[in-house]
Amino acid sequence: MEIFFLLHPTVFLLFFLLFLSIIIFLLKPKFLCHCEICQAYLSSSWSKDFFNLCDWYSHLLRQSPTKTIHIHVLKNTITANPDNVEYILKTKFENYPKGKIFSSILGDFLGRGIFNVDGDLWRFQKKMAILELGQQSIRSYCFEIVSQEIHSRLLPLLSSVADGGVLDLQDVFRRFAFDSICKFSFGLDPMCLELSLPMSEFAVAFDLASKLSAERAMAVPPLIWKIKRMLNLGSERELKKGIKLINMLAHEVIRQRRKMGFSTHRDLLSQFMRTVSDETFLRDIVVSFLLAGRDTIASALTSFFWVLSNHPTVEYAIQLEADRIMGPNSNPTSFDQIRNLHYLQAAIFESMRLYPPIQFDSKFCQNDDVLPDGTFVGRGTRVTYHPYAMGRVEQNWGPNCLEFKPERWLKNDIFCPENPFKYPIFQGGFRFCLGKEMALAELKIVALSLIRHFQIQSTTPGVTPRFSPGLTATFCGGFQVSIGKKKKSN
Ligand code: HEM
Repeated sequence: MEIFFLLHPTVFLLFFLLFLSIIIFLLKPKFLCHCEICQAYLSSSWSKDFFNLCDWYSHLLRQSPTKTIHIHVLKNTITANPDNVEYILKTKFENYPKGKIFSSILGDFLGRGIFNVDGDLWRFQKKMAILELGQQSIRSYCFEIVSQEIHSRLLPLLSSVADGGVLDLQDVFRRFAFDSICKFSFGLDPMCLELSLPMSEFAVAFDLASKLSAERAMAVPPLIWKIKRMLNLGSERELKKGIKLINMLAHEVIRQRRKMGFSTHRDLLSQFMRTVSDETFLRDIVVSFLLAGRDTIASALTSFFWVLSNHPTVEYAIQLEADRIMGPNSNPTSFDQIRNLHYLQAAIFESMRLYPPIQFDSKFCQNDDVLPDGTFVGRGTRVTYHPYAMGRVEQNWGPNCLEFKPERWLKNDIFCPENPFKYPIFQGGFRFCLGKEMALAELKIVALSLIRHFQIQSTTPGVTPRFSPGLTATFCGGFQVSIGKKKKSN
C-alpha cells in the first residue's frame, strides 16, 4: 500500500515539481542571468530578427572585438577567432577534450564511438580508421562505390522526374549518402535510394536521435533533460524509442557482416571486427561511421545545389571546366580525372565556407585557461568554435565575406587550400576529419554528374534556408527542386 502511494503519478509529479523547485533555487545564479544576450536566448527573442540561431551567433561574433562571446546561461564560450581555434584544437589540445558533459549528452546515441570519446578509446578507433581511410587506394574504392550508386540509382531516379517534376533533393541526397556509406563502411546495401521503398527505418530513427540529442545540448538548465530521461517523459521517451531501434538495426548489420564473413573484406566494419569482439562497442562504431559519412555529405550536397540555384554563372563555369578537361558529355572514369577540376573544388569549398555541414563543434575546458585573444575560460566551460560564423567574419574573409565567390580559392586557376584553423570545416589539429579526401571525392563526382545531366532549379529561389536543430546542418522542410534534362552539347 505504501509503495502504491509513493508510486502514484500525482504524488510522483508533486515530488518532481518540489525537486525541480529546489534545483532551480540552487542553480538560480547560473541560469537566470539577466544580461541582454542570455535573455534573448532564453526568450528566443533573437528569432524576431534572425532566421537561425547560427545567424544570430554570427551577428554577435561579428560585433565582438575579440570575435568571441560568452552565453552565461549555457556556460558556453563561442569563438570565431582562428587563433583561438588553433589553440583549442592543437596547441592546448589536452586541455580541451570532448569531456564528460558532451559524452553524457550524446552517450545514449553515440555510446563509445569515435565522436564521443577521448583518450585511449579515441586513439584506438582513430588508428583503426586511419588504416582504412588513410590508404591511397581509398579514393578509387570510394569512386567505384559512388559511381555505381550514381549510375544505377541516382541518375535514373532524377531522369524519371526530369520533365519538370519536383522532388526533395535533400531527401534524395540523404538516401544516396546512406546507401554509399553503408556500402563503403559495412559492405552492405540498404537500398534507400529505391524511392519505391520506404526510407530505411534505420535512417528515420537515426534522424530523430540526432535531432533529439542535439536538443539536449540546448536545454537550460541541462538537468531538465536528465530528469526527463529519468522519468521517461516527452522527447526523452522518443529518443529512447529511436535508440532502441537503432541498436536493433546496428546489431543486425553486425550479424549480417559476421554471416557474410569479415576476415578478408576491406570495409571498415570488417576491419574493426577483426580486433573488437564487444557487440556494444561494435554497435557504437557502426553508428559513428554512419553519422560521419551520411549526414555531412548530404548536408554539403544540399547546400551546394541550393547555392548553385542562386548562382547560375558558377554552374556554367563548372560545366565549361569539365568540358575542357574531360571532353563534353563524358562521365568521369577515375578519381584522377576529377582531381584537375580546380574550379569545381573551389566552388565546393566556397559553398561549405558559407554553409558548413557541421556548423559548430564544442569541447570542454579541463583547467582554467586564457585564450590567445585574452578571453578567460574557467574549468568546466563549454568552448565552441563556430565555422558557420567564421565564414561570415570580415577579419577572416574580407569585406566580401558574405558573397559566394569560388574565385577566392584560386590563384592562376589553381585551387589553393586555406589555413585549417580559419576554415575548420573538417576540423583541424589532432581530431581532423579522417574522411576528408573521401568526402571531397564523393562531393565532386555527385556534383559533376548532376550538373552535366540536369537543370536543377529551386522551387523557392532566393528564400534563405532555415535549419532544423541536429548534429549536422539540415534544411527545415527539405529542399524542393524542379528537374529538367540538359541538352547534350556537340
Ligand atoms: C563533407 C563531409 C564531411 C565533413 C564536413 C566532415 C567534418 C568533420 C568534422 C568537423 C569532424 C570533427 C568532429 C568532432 O570531433 O566533433 C570530423 C571528424 C571525423 N570525420 Fe568527418 N566530415 C565529413 C565526411 C566524413 C566522411 C565521409 C567520413 C568517413 C567515413 C568521415 C570520418 C570522420 C571521422 C572518423 C572523424 C573523427 C576524427 C577524430 O575524432 O579523430 N568524415 N569530420
